[in-house]
Amino acid sequence: MSESLVKAYKRGYQDFYGRDFVVSPDVLIPRPETEAIVDEVKLLAGQSYLPGMKAQKQKLSENPLILDVGTGSGCIAITLKLEIKEAEVVGLDVSSKALRIARENAEKLGASVDFVGSDLLCNYRGKVPDVIVANLPYVDENWEWLDKEALSKEPELALYATNGGLDLIFGLINQAKMLWQNDSGEKWLILEADPCQHQRIIKYATERGISHLKTNDFILVLCKPQE
Ligand SMILES: C[S@@+](CC[C@H](N)C(=O)[O-])C[C@H]1O[C@@H](n2cnc3c(N)ncnc32)[C@H](O)[C@@H]1O
Repeated sequence: MSESLVKAYKRGYQDFYGRDFVVSPDVLIPRPETEAIVDEVKLLAGQSYLPGMKAQKQKLSENPLILDVGTGSGCIAITLKLEIKEAEVVGLDVSSKALRIARENAEKLGASVDFVGSDLLCNYRGKVPDVIVANLPYVDENWEWLDKEALSKEPELALYATNGGLDLIFGLINQAKMLWQNDSGEKWLILEADPCQHQRIIKYATERGISHLKTNDFILVLCKPQE
């Protein structure tokens, strides 16, 4: 963990997309590379994210439903609700301790987001989502270059996954496919993963009818096409 992230635990908050989020040892410290998930959803919503950037055609419906799986501090879900006011946003996490921090952040920042305790989407009973975003654990503890000591302050539940770090991401791709199977509309899955994992994820998703639209650094934008 870099020195600035250690400092975040000490001071108890971390900046994400220009807002301060409460953090504790129960949650991952929000990382700058994750902000690109917000940028990509804003593009789909017809909003530009850089000064002077031309907005693209809006692809989402008027009141899109967005799920953030593995919400942690709630940084992605809350930011999306504050940036795309007309969206309905639900954050899900398997950790009840993380959800407590997420709810505290939502209240502090005035964002109306529902938070649900769930292993991936297993407990999700709502409407079919238009967009699913996720920064799930994707670190493989066998990576030769891994500096475990640098990550030792953060919860293992927030970091590590089996099967080369891809077990949870693959699980989510399967659940997204199931959720979307009876809906003919275009749907989006926006995932963070290490670039060394991207080709495996793209292959896995493509084999399940979810295609790769673009890559933005650590972020993959996948799409189930309109039928
Ligand atoms: C890498 S952290 C990301 C947190 C936050 N979204 C962010 O970007 O800073 C991953 C989160 O996924 C949660 N998580 C781990 N396994 C999960 C599972 N099976 N289902 C749902 N959430 C899970 C962890 O508790 C943790 O909060």
